[in-house]
Amino acid sequence: MASPTLTLGPVTLGTSGLGVDTLPGSAEEAAAVADAVALFASRHAFVDTSNNYSDGRSEAVLGLALAEAPTDAASRVITKVDVDPVTGAFDRDRVLRSFEESTARLGVDRLPLLHLHDPYAVSVAEATGPGGAVEGLRELRDAGVVDAIGIATYPVDEMQEYIATGLFDAVLSHNCFTLLGQTATPLFEDAKRRGITVFNAAPFGSGILVKGTSSTYGYRPPTPDVVAHVEQLEAIAQRHEVALAAVALHYSLRSPLVDSTVVGIKTRARLAALDALVDTEIPSALWPEVDALIAGW
Ligand SMILES: NC(=O)c1ccc[n+]([C@@H]2O[C@H](COP(=O)([O-])OP(=O)(O)OC[C@H]3O[C@@H](n4cnc5c(N)ncnc54)[C@H](OP(=O)(O)O)[C@@H]3O)[C@@H](O)[C@H]2O)c1
Repeated sequence: MASPTLTLGPVTLGTSGLGVDTLPGSAEEAAAVADAVALFASRHAFVDTSNNYSDGRSEAVLGLALAEAPTDAASRVITKVDVDPVTGAFDRDRVLRSFEESTARLGVDRLPLLHLHDPYAVSVAEATGPGGAVEGLRELRDAGVVDAIGIATYPVDEMQEYIATGLFDAVLSHNCFTLLGQTATPLFEDAKRRGITVFNAAPFGSGILVKGTSSTYGYRPPTPDVVAHVEQLEAIAQRHEVALAAVALHYSLRSPLVDSTVVGIKTRARLAALDALVDTEIPSALWPEVDALIAGW
């Protein structure tokens, strides 16, 4: 299926941490809303959220920010449907309720893209069968309240099963196409052949490639192997006088397989730092060294 045209920017702002632990009406919420207004006013076209990020507070904060953001911002929020947190249901009816919850929090009537998010509660056959979650997504697309539907989960082989159904317009993989591992490559190649839009999320491997080895890789403490790999990458970056984070980001930005790279950004300070990384010129002599190193792992 040809993907409906989404005019994506090279970077999409991921807001999984936005609004975490904020209470409605609190000073912390007001600060998060001010940050979200800055995200919408930035040079980056789309913001990525989900029904369950920060227990719904990411969408709630984005919704409050939309009231103060440029008028087109409401059409630049991508969200995801999630499992019912109480019953564990993840079928057609749950998808329709999840959409209603999200659009109510965001204060929008329609969405440019709605992903099926981490459907671990159901098999691919259940999700794509009669009464399954994908039926709900297709109904929303057919009704014209969603322009495109995507699959955003892990692992990559399950995503390949989802996109092989021919039902999806977009795919989002996380932590699987970075300097530390490229297991998403066959998925992205398959998606490209099918005309499916590719989002590569978590280019910093959830933290380690921007914060250093005391941070996480794929949301877990890194193994000694991974620490050793990061140290080798850091040595190359230092020799070429660029930050490893800039190399990590540009590794994704320069790939012809990736339509947009989703970076976790929740504050104005992080946004400014992101823009500095985007604007960093990576010496072309660095890439053969990086490619040779990671090919040997
Ligand atoms: N299944 C899915 O659909 C799925 C799964 C994973 C991710 N995603 C999407 O992808 C987005 C990105 O993933 P991610 O946030 O897990 O991983 P990531 O983008 O690889 O890394 C984000 C982490 O990097 C830190 N960071 C960013 N810029 C920094 C800077 N300049 N200096 C220091 N630290 C910096 C942030 O730290 P602070 O928290 O301290 O700011 C954040 O914790 C998510 O927000 C979400 O939208 C989707």
